[in-house]
Amino acid sequence: MQAILEILRRASAEEAPHWEQFPYETADENETVATALVRLNEVLCAAGKNPIRWECSCLQKKCGACAMVISGKPMLACDAKLTDVQKHGAVRIEPLRKFPVITDLIVDRSILFENLRTLSVWLEQAVIAQGDRAALAYDASRCLQCGCCLEICPNFCPGGSFFGMAGFAPAARLIAELPKAQRDALCKAYRAHIYEGCGKSLACRNICPAGIDIEHLMVNTNAAAVWKLPWRK
Ligand code: SF4
Ligand code: SF4
Ligand code: FES
Repeated sequence: MQAILEILRRASAEEAPHWEQFPYETADENETVATALVRLNEVLCAAGKNPIRWECSCLQKKCGACAMVISGKPMLACDAKLTDVQKHGAVRIEPLRKFPVITDLIVDRSILFENLRTLSVWLEQAVIAQGDRAALAYDASRCLQCGCCLEICPNFCPGGSFFGMAGFAPAARLIAELPKAQRDALCKAYRAHIYEGCGKSLACRNICPAGIDIEHLMVNTNAAAVWKLPWRK
């Protein structure tokens, strides 16, 4: 397959972004955007040109580092097959737009981790989730902190008091795991930084590359943290 890779580039945060086009031929039909970026960079480096800067670690949909906007949709580059994302022979690749761009496709997502610190989503001691709460905790634990859900969320802006689904998932995990007597402070933070800011539009429902069932998790977490329904003890 032949495609044009259109990549939004900038050398530094101070520079205005510009599009660059690269004709590209895939090695096989299952090639991903991540593989294409690796192969393209080999060609650019061999020609003495600047490679495309982007982040990756696992290349197996496990670290979230390679999140970017591909043909208009936030995705993991290592999970985006070129044949699925090309439109009219072109694949447009941009950095996530809710975070400051450092260079090319690399963004600064440190606000995500500051938000987790504000929520205090860590355990002081080991706990074992009971019953159906264990399944909820497991689902929530699969969050990669990739930021894809924040890209399409109409209510999230970095630095705001609403932390979006990237804050929701780790909080939901702990609310499911902790016994009721130990989660008052977390539930208070959850109401302030997640529940009250979320418009419940569920635009984020089908975007999570980890496949977290956001709707199911949200219903159950709200029942425990906001409505305090008796079966959520
Ligand atoms: S439900 Fe809507 S407002 Fe809430 S996190 Fe998802 S996209 Fe954002
Ligand atoms: S909830 Fe899903 S889309 Fe959002 S940060 Fe976590 S893994 Fe990424
Ligand atoms: S490189 Fe780890 S999720 Fe893509």
